[in-house]
This record gives sequence, structure tokens and C-alpha cells, in this order.
Amino acid sequence: MQKLEQLYEGKAKKVFKTDNDNRYWIQYKDDATAFNAQKKGTIAGKGVVNNKMSAYWFLLLAERGIENHFVELKSDNEMLVKAVEIVQTEVIIRNIAAGSICRRLGIEEGKELPFPILEFCLKSDELGDPVINEDHILAMELATKEEIAKMKDYAHKINDILKEELLKNDIILVDFKIEFGRYQGEVILADEISPDTCRFWDANTMEKLDKDRFRRDLGGVEEAYQEALKRITGEKK
Ligand code: TMP
Ligand code: ASP
Repeated sequence: MQKLEQLYEGKAKKVFKTDNDNRYWIQYKDDATAFNAQKKGTIAGKGVVNNKMSAYWFLLLAERGIENHFVELKSDNEMLVKAVEIVQTEVIIRNIAAGSICRRLGIEEGKELPFPILEFCLKSDELGDPVINEDHILAMELATKEEIAKMKDYAHKINDILKEELLKNDIILVDFKIEFGRYQGEVILADEISPDTCRFWDANTMEKLDKDRFRRDLGGVEEAYQEALKRITGEKK
């Protein structure tokens, strides 16, 4: 498989064409942004951590019946994926209140939610990724009823799988964001699952092992990413 010209550069990844129309080549970057790119920086080693951790979760999820875009690793910070068309709706699951739900609804950070709360957001930096509901998604023709149902079902199943696996490594899954893509007529899980897109708290100390360390200038950012990778995959870097 050959890596050809760049198709797109996002905030955290570059997407390249390949000599196979059904495959994209993804390169994970060390660039970090927060608050819709108002805050910018670099997290050394992040591209490698996010690539390896995403590959780990995608393989595990595929084994558990969650179809996703991962095909194979190409290098420490590159993977080959199915060439999906990304659905312009992010799906968030929250087990514990943190981040924007606290600001929006006045819920205290750390409050355990009575059940996993699913939210949809519109993928739009200009608009600040606003929370939307199923009517908005249908009215804006971002996804069909069937696609919404599959995304919700997958999101809850992924939450159950990740939560259980992470707890074995003393990590609490506070929340996460996933994205889906269309491939050969089906929506499948796409994008990444990493410390950029999840909140991981140490189960004993409640220490943050994710991008909140960067967002909130807590220090120890690189170390937290390495620690999360090591605990989850058993591998360092
Ligand atoms: P939030 O509390 O800021 O809404 O974030 C919820 C989860 O989604 C958290 O795990 C971080 C992740 N997330 C992204 O992956 N990308 C984003 O653009 C935002 C805002 C959050
Ligand atoms: N990735 C998002 C951004 O820059 C937000 C975040 O992860 O906090 O803008």
C-alpha cells in the first residue's frame, strides 16, 4: 500500500490518500489544541501514544463486534484505515460529570451520573461544537434515524467495554467522544480513542491521565499520556 498526497489536515491528524480508493493513511500529530483551537501547543510523543492506543481499542472493539475503520498500523504514529466519510456529529458519553457539562448545567465536577448520559454535538469549530439533539441531526440531514440508532447503540456498548477494561488497570472512564464514518453504506466507528478524546482518572488518586492536563495547565502532560498508554496496552511509547 502506497501513501499518496495529503487529503486533509485536522487539528490532531493528517489524512493521506493511498493507491487503494478504499483506504486512507492517517498520521497522528503531536499538535494539541483546546477550546476550539483557541489554545494551541505541542505534546511530545502524543502522536505515537494516540496512534497506538487507538489501534489497541479498535482491535479490541472489533473482537467484541464493534465495526470500525482500523485496518493496520503503519508506523509508531501512522495507521491505515477504511476510507470513511465522517458523520458531522460527535457522540459523547458521560459517566461522571466533568468539563462542559459542569459549565453548561451547573453540575459539580466529579459527580457520578445516575446512568451514562449520551450527548450529540455538531462538528463545528466556528460554532464551538454545540450540543444538538436527534431532531437537529434529522432536520440538518447529518444522519438518518437508522444511523442515529446504530451510533447510540455502539456508543453505549463501547462505554461498557472501555469502562470494564480500564478499571482492570485502575483507570476510571469519566467520559469520551467518538466519531463515526460511512463506509460501503454502513456507519462504523472512526476517528480515534485516546487521551485527547477521553477523560481518564486514576481510580485511587483521581489524578487526571488525559488532555485536561493540557487544557488546564496542570503540568505532567507528556507523562500522563505515557502512563495511560502503559497501563492500557502494557507498552511504553
Ligand atoms: P467536554 O466536557 O469538553 O464536552 O468533553 C467531553 C469529552 O469529549 C472529553 O472526554 C473530551 C472529549 N472532547 C473531544 O474529544 N473533542 C472535543 O472537541 C471536545 C470539546 C471534547
Ligand atoms: N480538540 C478540541 C479543540 O481544539 C477541544 C478539546 O479537546 O478540548 O479545539
